[in-house]
Amino acid sequence: MTRVAVVGTGVIGESWARLFLAHGHDVVATDPAPGAAERLPDAVTFVEDPAQAAADADFVQENGPERLEVKHALLAVLDAAARPDVVIASSSSALRPTDLARGAPEHPERVLVGHPFNPPHLVPLVEVVPGEATSEAAVGAAMAFYAGVGRTPLRLRAELPGHLANRLQAALWREAYSLVERGVATVADIDTAITDGPGLRWAGVGPITGQHLSGGAGGLAHVLEHLHPGTEALWADLGAPTMTPELAQRLVTQVTEAVGDAGPDALLARRDAVIRAALTARSTEDR
Ligand SMILES: NC(=O)c1ccc[n+]([C@@H]2O[C@H](COP(=O)([O-])OP(=O)(O)OC[C@H]3O[C@@H](n4cnc5c(N)ncnc54)[C@H](O)[C@@H]3O)[C@@H](O)[C@H]2O)c1
Repeated sequence: MTRVAVVGTGVIGESWARLFLAHGHDVVATDPAPGAAERLPDAVTFVEDPAQAAADADFVQENGPERLEVKHALLAVLDAAARPDVVIASSSSALRPTDLARGAPEHPERVLVGHPFNPPHLVPLVEVVPGEATSEAAVGAAMAFYAGVGRTPLRLRAELPGHLANRLQAALWREAYSLVERGVATVADIDTAITDGPGLRWAGVGPITGQHLSGGAGGLAHVLEHLHPGTEALWADLGAPTMTPELAQRLVTQVTEAVGDAGPDALLARRDAVIRAALTARSTEDR
């Protein structure tokens, strides 16, 4: 059993804590928000002081606010308190690990990004992103740790804004917002187009292997030869929306209409039930 420090117990930290507990780890958590301790399962040890959380930890998962100066202040405390061999992984969605590591001057080599997808206790992907100072030992330890809690760690080959999967999502959101801006599709149309269309395939095989399958015996080579000129013409028509207050309001109004009477609890239950079903189907396939 490993002792894991969960630093920051908001949306992501709370979910990480559930995952680590489910895999038999001891979890020590910290968060300055009033009532933070009460929102966690009883099995979590809550401490006020981040240094105390890190002091006896074998792995540190940082999930504080997404602001570099806040992360730097926090990382300095964690770096001073944790054993030198302990990995400090930040859940950061967009900050570069090289920039984060500047907040840990004693042992920047153990700082990396371990970026999960919401909710981390269900969605397996964890993007492991080393910075310029990160050691191979830290990367290896993080990959092994995440695999040990049933995740799919993916080591990224470069530090990019938004890592990898969020860049892919951002490309989709860009066109989705553009279609709403142009008034040619609603939020409900866009969500249905994905949930009842390619979204169902993507959990099975991913977008490029999906194309490969669309090519029949000729596979991706045939698709690229046959259909790519059309895709290239379509690229020229893709939008670059500007998030004006009017567009933001239109998106909010339309998503409110799209969800109707369904409250957040019902929507979260539906989202998580579909994720669980997809994971179960895949694990059955793998056997
Ligand atoms: N929400 C997502 O979908 C998502 C997905 C992947 C990664 N992330 C990343 O996870 C991190 C946390 O995001 P979130 O969505 O859980 O945010 P959140 O606002 O829900 O939680 C942040 C928590 O940090 C706490 N905090 C503030 N100052 C702190 C300090 N000095 N020490 C410890 N905790 C402190 C806050 O009280 C709060 O509970 C961010 O870096 C974010 O980029 C978020």
